[in-house]
Amino acid sequence: MKKFIKAGAFAFGMFATTAAYAADCKTDVKKDDLTTEQVTALYECIKTELRAGYEKKGLEHTKEYQSWKPVATAPANAGVHGKRFLTAFVNEVGYDEYVKFSDERGPMPVGTVIAKESFNVSKKGKVKKGPLFLMTKVAAGGDADEFGNWIYGVVSPKGGKVNAKQKFCHGCHGNYEDQDSLGYPLEDVRVSSN
Ligand code: HEC
Repeated sequence: MKKFIKAGAFAFGMFATTAAYAADCKTDVKKDDLTTEQVTALYECIKTELRAGYEKKGLEHTKEYQSWKPVATAPANAGVHGKRFLTAFVNEVGYDEYVKFSDERGPMPVGTVIAKESFNVSKKGKVKKGPLFLMTKVAAGGDADEFGNWIYGVVSPKGGKVNAKQKFCHGCHGNYEDQDSLGYPLEDVRVSSN
């Protein structure tokens, strides 16, 4: 079934109710011109299929994260991670700390897991599923010491394990030293912390 996202709240409501079907989600709006509402409509259109893909092979956290709380009110394109639209979820261990979005934080609690869904919109206006990105906080003193005690992981849209290069991920995340290597979502989509 084809779904075509145009402007407006009407389309959003309509597509939200049909999201259970196999999606061929499309838009006639250029990626950079999409409003938050339109991005959200595309996300709602692809969400069920995106999640079914991530959890397909039963890799750790791929099902579980779907019940964690999001830390953003809408998917946003921060210009990183392949310029995809990103939505992050944090488990109970780390949620309250994460949503302080502190720029002078100490280490996040050991056992924090962050999962970040991603999708893109092609030049032809078609939604493209992206990988699930994971960060897991482990105790200091192990192999992950040089990577801020984070273990980085990537799951393909088909649920397969992608070899995440710790050095590559942390090469960028490590720049956010005062935020325990966290980039945080764009400010205008952050959930409020109180
Ligand atoms: C070029 C820089 C860059 C690289 C490389 C990068 N990230 Fe990120 N990442 C960011 C930024 C910036 C954010 C916050 C933006 C957002 O989520 O909207 C982020 C967010 C995240 C988050 C949500 C937690 C947070 O930081 O707030 C996870 C999980 C994540 N990245 C995993 C990974 C993994 C796994 C890799 C390697 C495969 C990776 N990242 C590579 C810049 C990068």
